[in-house]
Amino acid sequence: MEILRSIAEWKKYRSSLIQESRDQSLGFVATMGALHEGHLSLVRLSMKENTRTAASIFLNPTQFNDPKDLENYPDTFSEDVRKLEAIGCDALFAPAYEELYPDNFRYKLMETEYSKILCGAHRPGHFDGVLTVVMKLLNIVQADRAYFGEKDWQQLYLIRGMADAFFMNTEIVGGPLIREPDGLAMSSRNLLLTADERKKAPLFNRIISGPGTIAEKEKALEDAGFTVDYIEAREGRILAAVFLGKVRLIDNVKG
Ligand code: PAF
Repeated sequence: MEILRSIAEWKKYRSSLIQESRDQSLGFVATMGALHEGHLSLVRLSMKENTRTAASIFLNPTQFNDPKDLENYPDTFSEDVRKLEAIGCDALFAPAYEELYPDNFRYKLMETEYSKILCGAHRPGHFDGVLTVVMKLLNIVQADRAYFGEKDWQQLYLIRGMADAFFMNTEIVGGPLIREPDGLAMSSRNLLLTADERKKAPLFNRIISGPGTIAEKEKALEDAGFTVDYIEAREGRILAAVFLGKVRLIDNVKG
């Protein structure tokens, strides 16, 4: 797997693909590292649908409204590289902050409605950071398709909207939410749960997908020891975010 650290290196790699063959397609999976089966399933989906697949690892500081959350984010770069190599990913783009933010985030991309509810209401500025970095990455990578997980339902919806609103050339593809055998949605943040919290965490999915009204589910979550950030029914889904100790978990199910 080729590891490209700068935009100049990436551009060289991208042109070499075009020179190799005009018929090939590039799929792209953006990540912040701490890779798990959810990310790898997106890479595999991209490998099925494209002749070449690239991933990126960039822990994007502009989408963290809480500096402690950023500090605690797991850093597993060497392991991530091994995992990507093992499944046959072709390239990894892993730029430094200065490469992606020469403007130091003076310029930002903002959506004014859907980004203000659900996660956006509880994490001010979060989606400005997400949309800005995804726009930068897609502009640099020039992929034919980019893959984002349905676990981050609101993020996927907003990225699709951005790609449409700005007539971007990359097709945005959603990949299914991947769960642990006990039902917990896979997330890099699961690594931060204590052993006791990890045992309790699957109750989150069990409660939101079980019977009852939204108010009843909210009460059941609080009774089980979660602190509910939000739980809402929208467009045929139930979307929820909770804290378990210091760790914020999100999930969504058909509702
Ligand atoms: O879903 C994520 O890991 C991040 O929000 C993304 C899309 C890589 C942007 O930093």
